[in-house]
Amino acid sequence: MEKDFSLRELNTFGFDVKARYFQELKTLDDVQELIRNHEFISCRDAALSRLNGNTSHILILSGGSNILFPDEFYDGFVVYPNLKGIDILDENAETVMIRCYCGEVWKDFVDYTVSLNLYGLENLADIPGKVGAAPVQNIGAYGAEVKDTVYQVHTIDLATGETKIFSNEECNFSYRNSIFKNQWITHALSQRDTTGYPVGTRHALSMIFAVDFVLKKHGELKLDYGNIRNYLIANNITNPTLKDVAATVKAIRAEKLPEVGVVGSVGSFFQNAIVTMDKYLEIKELYPDVPSYPVEISPLPAVARDVINTEGNNKHKNVISSEVEKSHKSIKIPSGWLIDRAGWKGYRENHVGVWDKQALVLVHYGGGKPSEILDLMKKIQDSVYKKFGIEINPEVNIVASL
Ligand code: EPU
Repeated sequence: MEKDFSLRELNTFGFDVKARYFQELKTLDDVQELIRNHEFISCRDAALSRLNGNTSHILILSGGSNILFPDEFYDGFVVYPNLKGIDILDENAETVMIRCYCGEVWKDFVDYTVSLNLYGLENLADIPGKVGAAPVQNIGAYGAEVKDTVYQVHTIDLATGETKIFSNEECNFSYRNSIFKNQWITHALSQRDTTGYPVGTRHALSMIFAVDFVLKKHGELKLDYGNIRNYLIANNITNPTLKDVAATVKAIRAEKLPEVGVVGSVGSFFQNAIVTMDKYLEIKELYPDVPSYPVEISPLPAVARDVINTEGNNKHKNVISSEVEKSHKSIKIPSGWLIDRAGWKGYRENHVGVWDKQALVLVHYGGGKPSEILDLMKKIQDSVYKKFGIEINPEVNIVASL
């Protein structure tokens, strides 16, 4: 275990945040050792005793490519799962099942599956981060989402050391969301599990250590999203292969997004906006070129169903009624377009700014503090709200202040 450990290399924003305690886990035996560690136990007990806040003294950090620490010191215990390994578990005429451990780098795993000519992950090429984090927010890009390839997710409980498998259905995947991300909704409601701990807290202490994927030997390529088809045509590729699609996605990403490790960023900082049809028509009247996508109708996550069944908490009922509304008659408007139209693209203020090739991306040029990004975030949110009457929300996970 390390003390006052710098996380600068472990968050792609590149902020020099220090963690009071830090432990890398390379094997499941390391996990068993961790749960006997004195400092870990005291942080865990502090986390478990908090019933009503969104705070915890334990943070499970993966590739750090979708996280923002609001302060320069994290006064808790950072657990860094880094188990390695890729195993082919099963194979038939149509599919291959592959287990990938959490510490593998996502883009290397995608390259490996593409090199085997397996379909399913090619549109998700070059997304930064590690495999263990991919299911948490159901990573997606260029018309594909990881949920369509995940067979099951293996977790280990950092309170008891017990392992648990979540089937694809139990993961409750939706746009940039899953049960692993939703955990705090139930936490805030103080529901207790059979051992007396708040339900959400128990999820929060579950660490994903491996993911099983099912990939196809023969599949259809997804070319209709964004610029993929145009890019292929422009490069005289009339009959694209799986490898052509992965290479195209990489080329398009490289044109739009800052290079990881060179300029600090977390990819999309905001989620795309989901608005009512009325709101969309109002905006379209003023800006006929507004891009939009229909929102997929997805079943409510089980966590949300739990919330609906719980009486007497209006705040959370509101969250869910807007979820219900969202899943039924909504339109997605790219927040990058809203921010661009509000005039922020290429804006720079001291050490931070808005990427000049994709306004959804906030960047840290080095030497800055997380508070600078938070200030910029608020200014952009206010300005977009003022211009369009739309609230845009962060996609990045902002670590709760203790
Ligand atoms: N747009 C602008 N100005 C901008 C940026 C975008 O007008 O500065 C317009 C574009 O012209 C386009 C539309 O907005 O019509 C959508 O832009 P883009 O295709 O770049 O995709 P996005 O919706 O902004 C999403 C994901 C990205 C993913 C891309 C490609 C979210 C929050 N973001 O971005 O994911 O790579 O689609 O599939 O869903 C990430 O999560 O970190 C990420 C980069």
